[in-house]
Amino acid sequence: MAMKSVWITLLCLFVIAEADQGFDVRHHLSTVTRYSASKEVSQNLIKGSNVPSECTPIHLNLVARHGTRSPTKKRLREMENLSGRLKELVREAEASEKVPGWLGKWISPWQGKVKGGELIRQGEEELYQLGIRVRERFPTLFEEDYHPDVYTIRATQIPRASASAVAFGMGLFSEKGDLGPGSNRAFAVTSENRASDTKLRFFECCQNYKSYRKAKGPAVDKLKEPVLDKITASVAKRHGLNFTKQDVSSLWFLCKQEASLLNVTNQSCELFTPSEVALLEWADDLEVFILKGYGNSLNYRMGVPLLEDVLLSMEEAIKAREEKFPPESYEKARLRFAHAETIVPFSCLLGLFLDGSEYEKIQKEKPLELPPQPPKTRDFRGSTMAPFGGNNMLVLYSCPAASSPKYFVQVLHNEHSIALPGCDGKDFCPLEDFKAKVVTPHLKHAFDNLCNANLDDPEKKHQSPWSWLLGSSQKTEL
Ligand SMILES: *[C@@H]1O[C@H](CO)[C@@H](O)[C@H](O)[C@H]1NC(C)=O
Ligand SMILES: *[C@@H]1O[C@H](CO)[C@@H](O)[C@H](O)[C@H]1NC(C)=O
Ligand SMILES: *[C@@H]1O[C@H](CO)[C@@H](O)[C@H](O)[C@H]1NC(C)=O
Ligand SMILES: *[C@@H]1O[C@H](CO)[C@@H](O)[C@H](O)[C@H]1NC(C)=O
Repeated sequence: MAMKSVWITLLCLFVIAEADQGFDVRHHLSTVTRYSASKEVSQNLIKGSNVPSECTPIHLNLVARHGTRSPTKKRLREMENLSGRLKELVREAEASEKVPGWLGKWISPWQGKVKGGELIRQGEEELYQLGIRVRERFPTLFEEDYHPDVYTIRATQIPRASASAVAFGMGLFSEKGDLGPGSNRAFAVTSENRASDTKLRFFECCQNYKSYRKAKGPAVDKLKEPVLDKITASVAKRHGLNFTKQDVSSLWFLCKQEASLLNVTNQSCELFTPSEVALLEWADDLEVFILKGYGNSLNYRMGVPLLEDVLLSMEEAIKAREEKFPPESYEKARLRFAHAETIVPFSCLLGLFLDGSEYEKIQKEKPLELPPQPPKTRDFRGSTMAPFGGNNMLVLYSCPAASSPKYFVQVLHNEHSIALPGCDGKDFCPLEDFKAKVVTPHLKHAFDNLCNANLDDPEKKHQSPWSWLLGSSQKTEL
C-alpha cells in the first residue's frame, strides 16, 4: 500500500515536472510579450486561411502596435528602488539557504538610464521583419513605385510608434531605393497632433473614457489584490524573504522585462511557479479587459473613427478600380502604427476573441463576464491580442466578376487568418456582410456623443454609479 502511494506520488511529480518543462514564461507576459513568442503560440490556435485562388488582394489596412520598447522612466526608478529593497530583505533574512544567490547582489540592468519608453533594437527588428514579410506575402500590392498617396504610413506622435513605422517602412521598401548599401528609400510618416488624433489616439481625445479609466483604477487594483496577496505569501515563504506586495509586484514587472527584453528567464521569473505566473498574467489581463477591452463598451466604441477610416479606405480603393483609374494613382495600403490602447479596442470592434454567445451579448449591449481565473482557459489574452508589434491586417480581395459577391475582407491577426464571429464565423467575409454586420452596428455611436457628452447627464451615470467614490489611479501607457 505504502509502495503504491509512493509510486503515485512519483508519477504525479513526474507529470508536474513534464508540465513545467512545456511552460515558457515568455508566452505569459500579457502585453509585455514579444511578437515572436506570441506568434509561436497563436500558430497552434488559429487555423489556416481559405482564400480562393482566383481572388486577388487589392488593398491592405494595417493597424500595428509599436515594437518592443524599454521601460518608462517611472518604472526605471522603481527598479532602482527594488535593488536597494532586495539587499535590505536579504540582510534581514534568516533561512539564507532558501534565498536565491543573485538576489542580494542584483542591480537594475537599467541603472543610471535616465530616459525610457523608446523602441529598442529588438523592437526595430520586429517591425522591420514584419515589413519584409508583408511585402513578400502581398507582392502585387507592393509592386507600384512608392508614392505617399499610394502607401500611406501613419503613426501617432509618440516616438516609439513613429520609429516603428520607420522600421516597418525600411523593411517594406528595402532594395527599392538608392540610399546606402541597403538600397533604402525615403518615405513619409505622418502624424496627427496627439490631442486630436481620434483615429489612433482616441483614448487620449475621449474625455469620458479618461474619466472612466481614472475612476475605475482603484477597483481594478482591488480586483487584483487577492492574487497578489496569495502570491506574496507563497513567494515569501518559499524563498525565506519578508516580501511585501509592492516587492512582489515590482518583481513580476522585472520578470516580464527580463524575459521579454533581455531573454533572461532564470532569474526573477524563477521566483514564481508556473501556476503563479499564470495567475499574475491573468491579473494583468483582467486590467486590459476592464480598462481597454470588452469590459466596458466605451473602451472600444471610442475607436469607431478608426474603423470608419478602415472602411472608407476600402471603398475608395474599390471606387478607383471600378472607375478604371491607373493603378499608380490610388492607395494600395494604409499602414498605421500605434499602441496597445489602439489595437485592443480595434480587435474588440472587430469582435475578435469572442465565442458566438459572447458576441450576441455584446450586440445586445449586455456586459460580458470577466475572463475566468486559471486554470480555466480564456480567449482574452494580452499576450495574443497586443504583444509588442501585435497587429491586425484587413485585406480587401477582389474576386472574378462572374462570382457574386465580388469583394471580400480577410482579417489577419498577427499574420494569421482569423474567423469573424460577426460574419457568421467566416474568415473570408463578403464586404457587404462585413459592412452590415461588423461595422454598421457600431456607427450609431458617434464619437462626440460617446466621448464628450456631459458626464453629469443623469442618463450616463448608470455606467458606473460608484465611480465617483474612488480616488485617482496612475496612468500606465502601454
Ligand atoms: C523609490 O523610493 C523612494 C523612497 O523610498 C520613494 O519615495 C519613491 O516613490 C520610489 N519610487 C518608485 C518609482 O517606486
Ligand atoms: C515582515 O515585515 C512586516 C512589515 O513589513 C513586519 O511587520 C514583520 O515583523 C516582518 N517579519 C519578519 C519575520 O521580519
Ligand atoms: C533566448 O534564450 C533561449 C534559451 O533560453 C534561446 O534558445 C533563444 O535563442 C534566445 N533568443 C534570443 C532572441 O536571443
Ligand atoms: C542564467 O543563465 C545564464 C546562461 O545560462 C547564466 O550565465 C546565469 O548565471 C544564470 N543565472 C542564474 C541566476 O541562474
